[in-house]
Amino acid sequence: MTGCVVVENGVIKKVIPRGGRTPAHADAVIDGKGLTLLPAFIDLHAHFRDPGFPGKETLESASLAARAGGYATVVCMANTKPPLDTFEAARSLRERSAALGLIDLHPAVALTKGMEGKELSGIKRGLMKQGNHALSIPDPPLLFSEDGKDVLDDALFLEALAAAAQLGSPVSCHCDNGGVEAEKAKQSGEPREVWSRIEENNATERAIRLGSQAGCALHIAHVSTKEAVAMIRDAKRKNPRVTCEATPHHIALAEKTAALLGAESFGRVNPPLRTEEDRRAIIAGVAGGVIDAIATDHAPHAAQDKAGGAPGFSGLETAFAVCCTELVRNGVVSLQKLSSLMSAAPARILGLKDRGVIREGLRADLVFVDTEAEWIVEPSAFKSRGKNSAFAGRKVFGKTLATMRAQAMRVVTV
Ligand code: DOR
Repeated sequence: MTGCVVVENGVIKKVIPRGGRTPAHADAVIDGKGLTLLPAFIDLHAHFRDPGFPGKETLESASLAARAGGYATVVCMANTKPPLDTFEAARSLRERSAALGLIDLHPAVALTKGMEGKELSGIKRGLMKQGNHALSIPDPPLLFSEDGKDVLDDALFLEALAAAAQLGSPVSCHCDNGGVEAEKAKQSGEPREVWSRIEENNATERAIRLGSQAGCALHIAHVSTKEAVAMIRDAKRKNPRVTCEATPHHIALAEKTAALLGAESFGRVNPPLRTEEDRRAIIAGVAGGVIDAIATDHAPHAAQDKAGGAPGFSGLETAFAVCCTELVRNGVVSLQKLSSLMSAAPARILGLKDRGVIREGLRADLVFVDTEAEWIVEPSAFKSRGKNSAFAGRKVFGKTLATMRAQAMRVVTV
C-alpha cells in the first residue's frame, strides 16, 4: 500500500491510504518512502538447535536471523537435545525467547517421548488437562511435529493425531519415512533420488489418510515431489483441513545445483533438491493454490557437519529474496500473493487471528522491504551461525530492511 499506518501500543490503530489525513502528532515517524510495508513474515518451520547444538545455532542467533529475514513469528521444530517433547519444555523455551524480545517464538512439541516413536509425548498430559483443569500444564502448542522422524507405528501415530485433534492444534508431517517399500529400495542399492521419492510419496499418502481418519488439521511440510503435489491437491478436495508448505530452496533449485554443491555434503537437504519437473510442479502448486504457505525449513549447520553430510540449509535470511526473485520477478505470483504465502496463510494455519495482514486492530508486526534491491547472497554476513546457504554467491532481488514487532512500537509509518 501507499499511505500511512498508525501504530499505538503495538497494535495497528489506523490504516490511512495516500491522500488521507495523517495524525498531527506521533512519538516517532518512520519514513518508508519508496519501500513497501508488508505484514512481518511467519515461519511455520525452522530449526533453532536450542537446546543442544550451540555450534550450529542458538536461540539468540536464530532469532536475530529471523528478524533480519523479516520474520516476527516463528515455529521452531522439536529436534533439539533433549527433544522438545513436553508442553513445559516448549513453554520454557518460549519464555527464554520472550526475554530476548526479538521474535514471537512458538516451539512445536514432538508427538512421542524423546522422539523415539514408542509412547506419546506430553501431548497425553495435555489431554489430561482438558479433563482436569486443576493440573498446571501450559496451553497446547500451536503445532505438533515429530520432525523428520515421523511416527512409524500406525496405531501410535493415529493416537497422536487424535490427541492433536482434541487439543485443536495442527500436526506438521515431514513425510520422510516411506515404510517397507522405501526401505527395500534403499537396501537394494537404488540411488537416493529413487528411494527418497518413494519415502516422501508413501509418507504423504499415509499422513493424509491417517490425519483424515483422526479428524485433525494436517499440515504437510516441505513438499518436493510432483506426485505429492498431486496427492495434496486431491486430498484438499475431500478434506479442507489438509494444508502444505514449500520451501524457497525447492522452489528455486533442482538436483543440478545439489550436484554442483556436493549432493552428499553442501547440497544435501531433506527432502532432496529434485528434478526440474518436480520444481515446476511446486511452482505450479504455488500459482494454483495447492501450496498454502512458504516455510524456510531453516536448518543451520556448522561447516564441518555440512561437509560430513548434515542435511539442510540456513534459510531465514534469504527466503524473501529468493521467493521475490523466483516467484514475483518471474511473474508466477504478485507481491501481494507472496506476502500472503509468507504471512496470512501461516497465521491461518496456526490459528493466529491477531496477525498476518495489515489491518486495524491487529498486531503491528511489520516489515519494510525493497523489492527492487539487487544483492549477492553472502553467508558470512548472516546473523545465523549456519552459513550453509545453497544460494551463496547468487544474485537475488528483494531485501528485507527492517522488521518491527508489536511490543516495542509507538510510531507512525509513512
Ligand atoms: O534437511 C533438513 N534438515 N530437513 C529437515 O527437515 C530437518 C533439517 C535438520 O534438522 O537439519
